Amino acid sequence: KKIIIINGPNLNLLGVRETSIYGNQDFLSYFEDLKTTFPTCELHYYQSNHEGDIVDKLHEIGFSYDAVVLNAGAYTHTSVAIGDAIAGIETPVVEVHISNVHKRETFRHHSYLAKNCVGVICGFGLKSYALALQSFL
Ligand code: DQA
Repeated sequence: KKIIIINGPNLNLLGVRETSIYGNQDFLSYFEDLKTTFPTCELHYYQSNHEGDIVDKLHEIGFSYDAVVLNAGAYTHTSVAIGDAIAGIETPVVEVHISNVHKRETFRHHSYLAKNCVGVICGFGLKSYALALQSFL
């Protein structure tokens, strides 16, 4: 299966940023672990801090890939455009969050993406990504 993980804003700082919430591992090293754990998947990775770039990437891959694992970061809670992009493509998307957003500030409780996603996984640390990949196998 051809699957892309898309990370949104500030997730390039994983391992450095708010480590008590997001942990000490940087994403690229975790991505290597995922490739080992899921040898049958063709895994791709994209990260951007820019809303429109994430929309463009969803359009680019959304008719040819088998699945998307998307952590849109704070855009989850603000972006009608990313929600619409998910609705407009054919490739199924799972929304993931490292932290349990429901344990945090109220503004993190709502997602503009979730209703267009297959499902949502949050709160399991970086393992949330592995659980999302698992859901497509
Ligand atoms: C996050 C949760 C969001 O609320 C936050 O803005 C992030 C990361 C998570 O993975 O837990 O940037 O998506």
